Amino acid sequence: MNHAKPFLKWAGGKRQLLNEIEKNLPPDISKTRQIDLYIEPFVGGGALLFYLLSNYSVKKSIINDINPDLILAYKIVKLYPEDLIKKLKIVKKEYLSLPYEERKEYYYNNLRNKFNELKINYSKPDTKLSIEKVALLIALNKTCFNGLYRQNNKGEFNVPIGRYKNPRILDEENVRRASTVLKNTQIFYGSYDSIKIPKEPKTFVYLDPPYRPLTAVGFTKYSKEDFNDKDQKQLAGYYKKLNKDRHYLLLSNSDPKDKFFDTLYKGFNIERVSAKRYINSKANGRGNINELLIKNY
Ligand SMILES: C[S@@+](CC[C@H](N)C(=O)[O-])C[C@H]1O[C@@H](n2cnc3c(N)ncnc32)[C@H](O)[C@@H]1O
Repeated sequence: MNHAKPFLKWAGGKRQLLNEIEKNLPPDISKTRQIDLYIEPFVGGGALLFYLLSNYSVKKSIINDINPDLILAYKIVKLYPEDLIKKLKIVKKEYLSLPYEERKEYYYNNLRNKFNELKINYSKPDTKLSIEKVALLIALNKTCFNGLYRQNNKGEFNVPIGRYKNPRILDEENVRRASTVLKNTQIFYGSYDSIKIPKEPKTFVYLDPPYRPLTAVGFTKYSKEDFNDKDQKQLAGYYKKLNKDRHYLLLSNSDPKDKFFDTLYKGFNIERVSAKRYINSKANGRGNINELLIKNY
């Protein structure tokens, strides 16, 4: 099988949690290692998506996210891996040949400003511009501070340069593998509740929304929109609606002290698992914390 992994670092990435998630897959899927339809409405970097596509027999999948640049990246990786690799090879060569001070200039002018100036019509994207935009997104993601994706209120990517000696701007083989495993994946941009979930049996829906912050200053801003308690409650309503359609549902979230999710998902199966977290830039945001896996099976 083709082993692909996420081609972007993404806040809330689930690589540290894959073991625990695998232990908590629907029993039917664990036994047969087959999934007829896999759906991930908040795909982010897609750690579980790539793991399942690489290690299970997944007939079809549907992914979605509200971040248009991220979704454009999935489409370009799927359809134009070689053109993307060509572009990234040039950036990689130029960037790595520079000393740190000059890399800074390159980062702000040739990557970040260019990325922000390159406007895409997301509903009808031009292929050539999209390949350029995605190459810049990947290069920024690998060279910026902590691999964050953050925008100011004008919608501009505003993360500063990170301090990497030898950033991995291009993993050529992984781009090719990702492209191959995505061949039966439909890719959508929008809010999670805008995707049509077919009533096919054995559909497995994994929901990984922005985490409810453990403290008031937690990181939940992925795009211009926030995901607050009201959104978490709406999502629970959506979960209950899908539950009626008898899909397999797995949702992950943080484990806040006030038992917010125990109340919201009363009657479902709530597992507490331990995970390493790296995205928080404060020292006390690292280390092992509990996360919740909420199942309807
Ligand atoms: C916790 S991350 C998912 C991380 C992912 N599982 C991974 O392994 O990288 C949450 C994602 O939800 C997206 N998002 C936020 N609000 C959304 C909404 N209303 N509908 C769909 N996606 C949304 C964010 O852009 C972000 O990529």
